[in-house]
Amino acid sequence: MKATAKAHTNIALIKYWGKRDEKLILPTNNSLSLTLDGFYTKTTVEFREDLTEDIFYLDHKLVTDEQYHRVTKFLDLIREYAQEKTLFAEVHSINEVPTAAGFASSASGFAALAAAAARALNLGLSDQELSKITRQGSGSACRSIYGGFVEWHKGMELDGSDSYAVPVSPQDHWDVRVAAVVLSAKMKKVSSREGMRRTVETSPFFSSWVDSIPSDLEDIKQGIKERDFEKVGQIAEANCLKMHATTLGANPPFTYWHDTTLAVMQTVQQLRENGIPAYFTIDAGPNVKVLYLPENEEKVQDILREIPGVTDVKLSRSGQGVTYI
Ligand code: ADP
Ligand code: DP6
Ligand code: CO
Repeated sequence: MKATAKAHTNIALIKYWGKRDEKLILPTNNSLSLTLDGFYTKTTVEFREDLTEDIFYLDHKLVTDEQYHRVTKFLDLIREYAQEKTLFAEVHSINEVPTAAGFASSASGFAALAAAAARALNLGLSDQELSKITRQGSGSACRSIYGGFVEWHKGMELDGSDSYAVPVSPQDHWDVRVAAVVLSAKMKKVSSREGMRRTVETSPFFSSWVDSIPSDLEDIKQGIKERDFEKVGQIAEANCLKMHATTLGANPPFTYWHDTTLAVMQTVQQLRENGIPAYFTIDAGPNVKVLYLPENEEKVQDILREIPGVTDVKLSRSGQGVTYI
């Protein structure tokens, strides 16, 4: 009743931003991401008959706050599935990614937790079943089951039975790289969950955001298929700006950007003016991810590192889906 799984984070090129059902974590729109080999979570789950509650260690520290409750609530779903209502687990997780800083720790974290827990109980889930259950831990995590480019189908059903991720193209389809530009590894003030809830409830821009998704999605999938870097980059950057625009219209308004966030965005635009194709995207946090092609790795990296306020630049390639150790 013990298993260890490793899952990578993913960066959304078409963002998941808005839920239609908060409890089941059903999104308002499809999203599309690239799994990253540079950031991951390793989680060991051991179910034990002698435990009377779950125990959760994150990065060797015992967790008892809200982060613990998210884990136990998720394990409740696994217990329900396994019909083992009173079987509790000891969970040890290591994040090779900053936690809650906009680097998608919830994606690698819940994908690794789901995979390890399901394996520990020998549930024999298909990838599709695993993606569906993982979704209920954190939406973006359902995409981390797979490597390469991945789409999360929002689904139509009220019970979430058709809301899961599917592979768009495998890890080795295209060597696109991502530089994660670190400005702050601090926990963000507004979690992804709270940020999208406030946006859905109060931002007048939200409905136009949702309306703009189908054409972005169709175009970016065409671009991925044809390995058209400029097409993919342009759509991803514009989609990111639209998502962040919705937060400015919320009540109370908010933004995830810091001053250095804007400096990085402007540097990326300058890179393009100088003939180097590079595009940015930003999740719910101040840090920026820059898409580039392998031949420009040195130049892109050097220029990003020089920006005042940038503390680190971490390079990543297309990553693999969930694996077991
Ligand atoms: P991020 O940008 O890092 O995904 P979120 O606000 O979406 O930020 O989610 C962060 C939350 O995800 C953490 O506060 C914690 O509750 C959960 N989380 C992160 N890593 C793990 C992990 N390894 N195991 C379980 N839960 C995790
Ligand atoms: C901006 O998946 O972290 O990174 O489902 O509430 O756990 P919950 O939120 P989460 O949201 C991710 C938002 C995003 C865009 C994306 O990854 O698609
Ligand atoms: Co997250």
